[in-house]
Amino acid sequence: MKLAVIYDTKTGNTKKAAKWIVEGMKKAGDVEAKAFSLEDVDYTFVSQAKGLVLGCPVYAALMTPAMRTWLMESGMKLKVAGKLGGAFATAQFTHGGADLVIQSLLTGEIAMGMMAYSGGGAYGLPVIHLGPVGINDNLESHNKMENYRDNFRIYGERFAAKALELFPEKN
Ligand SMILES: Cc1cc2nc3c(=O)[nH]c(=O)nc-3n(C[C@H](O)[C@H](O)[C@H](O)COP(=O)(O)O)c2cc1C
Repeated sequence: MKLAVIYDTKTGNTKKAAKWIVEGMKKAGDVEAKAFSLEDVDYTFVSQAKGLVLGCPVYAALMTPAMRTWLMESGMKLKVAGKLGGAFATAQFTHGGADLVIQSLLTGEIAMGMMAYSGGGAYGLPVIHLGPVGINDNLESHNKMENYRDNFRIYGERFAAKALELFPEKN
C-alpha cells in the first residue's frame, strides 16, 4: 500500500517531522511511504496512495499561506475522496496554535472528501487527539524537535495500521 505525506517547510522542522512519520508508516507492514515538499509532489504517487497526511508550520496561529494556496489550487484538483487523511504541525511555542493548524488541515481534507484520522485516545499513550505536534529548538529551552520524534513515528505507524485495516489489498 502507498501512503503519502505532503508538507510545507522553510527551516526544516516540518520536513524532519514528515520523515519521522514515514519511518513510522513503514513499520506498520507492507507500506511504501513517501514524503514530498509542496514544491515537489509526485502526483502519480499521491493519486495511488490510500492515505495522505498533510504537515505545516504554524504561522500566526494559522497554516502557512503556501499550504493554503496549495490546498486551494492543487489539493482540490487531486482525486483524494475516500482516502484516509491525517495532519501534523510544527511550531515555536507550545501554545502557538499548532492544534488550530491541524484542525484546519483536517477540515480541508474532509472538504475534499477524505476520512479524517487522529487516533484520538484509542491507542493510549502517547495520546494524539488531532495530530502530532513538534516544537522547534529556538526559544523554549526545554524543547527541541528530537523530543517529539517518537510521537511522529508512533503516529505514522498508527495511521498506516488504520489504512491497512480499511483498505486490505487483495493478492
Ligand atoms: C512568519 C512566521 C510566523 C510564525 N508564527 C508562529 C506562531 O504563530 N506560533 C508558533 O508557535 N510558531 C510560529 N512560527 C514558528 C514556526 O511555526 C516554527 O519555527 C516551525 O517549526 C517552522 O517550520 P519549518 O522549519 O518546517 O519551516 C512562525 C514562524 C514564522 C517564520
